Amino acid sequence: MSTVKNASIQRVPFEILLDQKSISRRVAEFGRELTEDYAGRLPVMLGVLKGCLVFMADLMRTVDIPMEIEFVSAASYRKGTKPHNDVILGGASTVPLKNRHILLVEGIVDSGKTVKTILKALERQEPATVEIVTLLDKPASHRSSLDIKYKGFSIGNEFVIGYGLDNTQKYRNLPFIGRVLEF
Ligand code: IMP
Ligand code: MG
Repeated sequence: MSTVKNASIQRVPFEILLDQKSISRRVAEFGRELTEDYAGRLPVMLGVLKGCLVFMADLMRTVDIPMEIEFVSAASYRKGTKPHNDVILGGASTVPLKNRHILLVEGIVDSGKTVKTILKALERQEPATVEIVTLLDKPASHRSSLDIKYKGFSIGNEFVIGYGLDNTQKYRNLPFIGRVLEF
């Protein structure tokens, strides 16, 4: 077997911020809440790729009513831990969302630009309702007021990785949320 010697796959220093147990407990609570709130409404979970991947996979299995899933992809072309200004949407759902009950599922909300851009695009399709579900939120970083109905955890202005969240596309496969040190 050859040894991989690529510095780019070495891990950034991090510490565990939320372990698997804390995350799954919170996800189970969301499941109970959404099951109750959306009974009889056939909601559509619209996941924001790629950060929603792990959270949504776990979340959807805790929801005990019929529902559908769709995805939209958003990129803010972050370089490392520094955000870029424009949000580029792609791979939007081709399913008609008029009169549907949409749950916009995000891994993390930071400035709020990504969800705001998606909400604006969704409005044109005249859905019945749209609510945001995010595992993590950085309230101190919001650039304008944002109404998040389903929020897993509020965190400070720190950079986190794992459970679907990346740093330059890596670390999404960590099963917990880690806080990057020296950010
Ligand atoms: P916003 O548009 O500033 O709210 O940024 C949201 C997007 O930035 C998320 O969908 C993530 O892709 C990314 N992001 C923001 N903060 C973090 C973080 O701490 N770790 C990983 N990705 C982050
Ligand atoms: Mg990212």
